[in-house]
Amino acid sequence: MAAARIGGSALLLFAILPALCAAFSRKLSVELNPGSSSRPPGGDLLHIRALGDNDTLHFLFCSQGAPTLLLVHTNLTSSYVKVNWTLFLSSNTSGGLRVEPETSVIGGVAVVFTRLLEYLEVNDTVETFSPYRLDEVTWSPMVLSGPAARLCGALAGGSVCLNFTAFESEGRALPWPRLLHTANSSQLALQLDGLAARSANSRFLLELRTLSGTSPLDAVRIRRSIDDEFTPSIFKSSEWTSNSNESQADERGFISWKQVAYRRAAPMPEDAVPCRHSEPQAGSGQTLAELSALVRAFFREDLRDFGLNLSFGLTVGPSYNDTAFLSWTATVGLGRPPVDAFSPLVVAVLAAGLGAPLLMLLMGGVYVAVRKRSAVPAGYQPIN
Ligand SMILES: *[C@@H]1O[C@H](CO)[C@@H](O)[C@H](O)[C@H]1NC(C)=O
Ligand SMILES: *[C@@H]1O[C@H](CO)[C@@H](O)[C@H](O)[C@H]1NC(C)=O
Ligand SMILES: *[C@@H]1O[C@H](CO)[C@@H](O)[C@H](O)[C@H]1NC(C)=O
Ligand SMILES: *[C@@H]1O[C@H](CO)[C@@H](O)[C@H](O)[C@H]1NC(C)=O
Ligand SMILES: *[C@@H]1O[C@H](CO)[C@@H](O)[C@H](O)[C@H]1NC(C)=O
Ligand SMILES: *[C@@H]1O[C@H](CO)[C@@H](O)[C@H](O)[C@H]1NC(C)=O
Ligand SMILES: *[C@@H]1O[C@H](CO)[C@@H](O)[C@H](O)[C@H]1NC(C)=O
Repeated sequence: MAAARIGGSALLLFAILPALCAAFSRKLSVELNPGSSSRPPGGDLLHIRALGDNDTLHFLFCSQGAPTLLLVHTNLTSSYVKVNWTLFLSSNTSGGLRVEPETSVIGGVAVVFTRLLEYLEVNDTVETFSPYRLDEVTWSPMVLSGPAARLCGALAGGSVCLNFTAFESEGRALPWPRLLHTANSSQLALQLDGLAARSANSRFLLELRTLSGTSPLDAVRIRRSIDDEFTPSIFKSSEWTSNSNESQADERGFISWKQVAYRRAAPMPEDAVPCRHSEPQAGSGQTLAELSALVRAFFREDLRDFGLNLSFGLTVGPSYNDTAFLSWTATVGLGRPPVDAFSPLVVAVLAAGLGAPLLMLLMGGVYVAVRKRSAVPAGYQPIN
């Protein structure tokens, strides 16, 4: 009873607390192909402006070449995106997209989905099939719904899709892995649906490359948790960010994900497969600029990019062809990656677990004291 009451009041407290704290939100506005009256040849450019109290986050998502997400943070609410479409569409010039005024730009990061690699492990040897270059996929027009876009392309008899979402405020999407997002971060999900596998046991690697104007994404940190309430049986997440000094922590780009992918669109716990990553490798920003129109248009200096591979599934266990489906979700943003706090339920359980014995001790003490008092013989007067 007492434990339940403590649990109950803790639950109430923790249900009210987030409502009191979750004040920070951004005002979102969505624009497709800004400044262009028609759909440009070769792919769409989505711009979501996320207005804060005295700053702006510009989310740009583009399917010209390899799909790319670019985040630019400015310290003004009046900053804007300016696209010179002639320059943007030419395959060899930079400067096609600017965020003005340029002095207000305080951080930026781009994530490029470059390749899908299919491979097979037999007797400790890895056989790789010829990679699918995502800049060579013909992407359908983006399908928008609010601050979200779905981008799909036909690949190997199936489809590869990317779902991009920006958010007004903190929250958590319903489907697993139920990643936490804030108004300062966005979410990208990859889906490989119905691809014709080139072997019954093949698996896929996703190659991602990043470019950052402030600090390169050169390290992946692993974060462990004891709470798997939102992502059953998954206790580790990866944070791909920069190792450079802490002073720039607020403007560093990051990509974070739970170490899991799912083999069905509506997964059961057994449809989870582990997601592993390789160590970030430096590359040349020049080759990335050739793959991605957005990188080419925005970044001007000669920057180094960093890339890594994500693998889905283990050598033993199910392969891609078993369900012919795979989905993986990540959070992309600037600043500190959102971290799962203990959920109200776990806090309540902990409070009840620790509180009940304490309360019993306390009540025991009171009971003994009361018994002692009433055991005092009548007529006996204390000295003072
Ligand atoms: C931005 O606004 C917040 C409150 O909304 C304030 O605390 C902060 O000092 C402001 N920052 C700048 C750089 O003006
Ligand atoms: C870019 O390519 C066009 C033709 O596609 C060419 O006329 C132009 O000279 C090139 N510019 C540069 C700077 O290489
Ligand atoms: C915005 O940042 C730039 C570069 O860091 C700085 O020079 C400028 O004063 C800042 N403006 C505001 C309004 O904070
Ligand atoms: C793998 O090894 C097994 C037994 O060790 C052998 O029967 C099989 O042929 C090998 N497969 C390949 C592709 O080398
Ligand atoms: C989001 O960014 C704003 C402005 O930079 C900052 O005040 C706020 O604390 C950030 N919120 C989170 C959850 O990081
Ligand atoms: C993949 O699975 C389908 C149906 O389950 C099957 O028809 C096909 O042959 C399999 N592909 C390979 C390469 O084994
Ligand atoms: C990803 O894996 C492929 C095949 O093993 C390799 O060629 C490529 O360099 C890797 N990419 C990165 C960024 O590590």
